[in-house]
Amino acid sequence: MSRIAYVDGRFVPHNAAAIHIEDRSVQFADAVYEVWGVKDGALLDSDGHFTRLERSLGELKIAMPVGREALAEALFELIRRNRLRNGLVYLQVSRGKARRDHAFPGPDVKPCVIATAKRVDFAALVKKAETGIAVKTMPDQRWARCDIKTVSLLANVLAKQAAKETGAQEAWLTDRDGFVTEGSSSNAWIVTPEGALVTRPASNAILNGITRRTLISVAQGRGLTFEERPFTVDEALAAREAFITNASSMLMPVVTIDGQPVGNGHPGSLTTELRTAYQDSAVAAAHKKTARAASRPVARRAKRRISSGQPTARTVEQRRERDPPCPMTRNRTFRTFFSTRSASPRRR
Ligand SMILES: Cc1ncc(COP(=O)(O)O)c(C=O)c1O
Repeated sequence: MSRIAYVDGRFVPHNAAAIHIEDRSVQFADAVYEVWGVKDGALLDSDGHFTRLERSLGELKIAMPVGREALAEALFELIRRNRLRNGLVYLQVSRGKARRDHAFPGPDVKPCVIATAKRVDFAALVKKAETGIAVKTMPDQRWARCDIKTVSLLANVLAKQAAKETGAQEAWLTDRDGFVTEGSSSNAWIVTPEGALVTRPASNAILNGITRRTLISVAQGRGLTFEERPFTVDEALAAREAFITNASSMLMPVVTIDGQPVGNGHPGSLTTELRTAYQDSAVAAAHKKTARAASRPVARRAKRRISSGQPTARTVEQRRERDPPCPMTRNRTFRTFFSTRSASPRRR
C-alpha cells in the first residue's frame, strides 16, 4: 500500500509530498517536530507530545498553526489513510515560507505543517529488546537549548553515525564534566547496584522525553526508588542495568557501553519489567482517550472550537460519511478544516 503524507491541510501521496524551497525549515532548521508512537492505531502519550509541541513552538515564537484537537484529528486521519496499526507518526511545524533572511518574517507568513506515518515492525523491536543495544559515548556538541525539539539535529546525526561506525546503536553524549546528558535520539537511564532508577533532570541540556516523563510516573506508581540526577560514564559502567527511552523504541536495554558490559551484559530484569509496565500504561491511556473522544458529543467539541476561535468542523466520522471516497474531495475537507490559515493552500 502506498504511503500518504500530510502537507498543510492536504493528504497527498508520500512520494509527491513537497514543501516550498524557501520554507524556513530548509534554510534555517527553523522548525520543531514531534514523534508519536502508534500502537494498535492509537497515539501513545498523545497529550504529552502536544504539550511539548506547544512549548517548543512557544520558545521559538512560532504560532500553533491550529488547535491541538484539530491537529490530533489530522494525525488520526493520517493513521487511518495509511492503515497504520503499529508505527510512528512524525509532525513538523516550521515558521513558514519566506524570502531568505535570518530575522523572523512578518506576521503574514503562516507556519507550515507536515506529517508522515511509518510502520514499525513491532516483533523486531521486541526481539531487539531481548538482546539489548550497545552505546558509544562521545562529547555532546549540541547547542544550549536541547530542551526545544527543533529539527536542527546535525550534531545528533553525527553522533549517531559515529556510534554506528563502531557497531553501536546509540550514542551517549557527555558534558564537560563527564556526565551523560542523553542519547542522540533518546534519554539515558541507569539502575544502580542498590536498585535505584537514575536519569538526568530536565534542563536546557536535554530533551525532556515524553516517554521519560511517563516512565517516571510508572516507576513512582510502583514505589521504585527514583533519583533525578546526572550520572557519569563510570557510574553507568558500574550500574546493574542501563536503558534508553524514546517514542520509537519505548524502553530499550543497554547491554554494553564503549564495548564494556553493563551488569551481566544482558538486558536487566527491572528494565524488562518497566518496558512492559510502560507499554501497558501508555496503551491503556491511549485507548481510554480514543474511547472518550469517540463518545464525546460533536456539539460540545464544536462549541469548544468556537470559544477557542477555531473553525467548527464535523468529526472525522461525519466527514467520512459526507465525503465521497475521492482523495481531492477529502483534501478539500481538510483544507476547509484548516482554513484558519490566511493563505489558502495551493493545488499541486
Ligand atoms: C535528543 C533526544 N532526547 C530524548 C528523546 C526522547 O523523547 P521522547 O521520549 O519524547 O521520544 C528524543 C526523541 O526523539 C531525542 O531526540
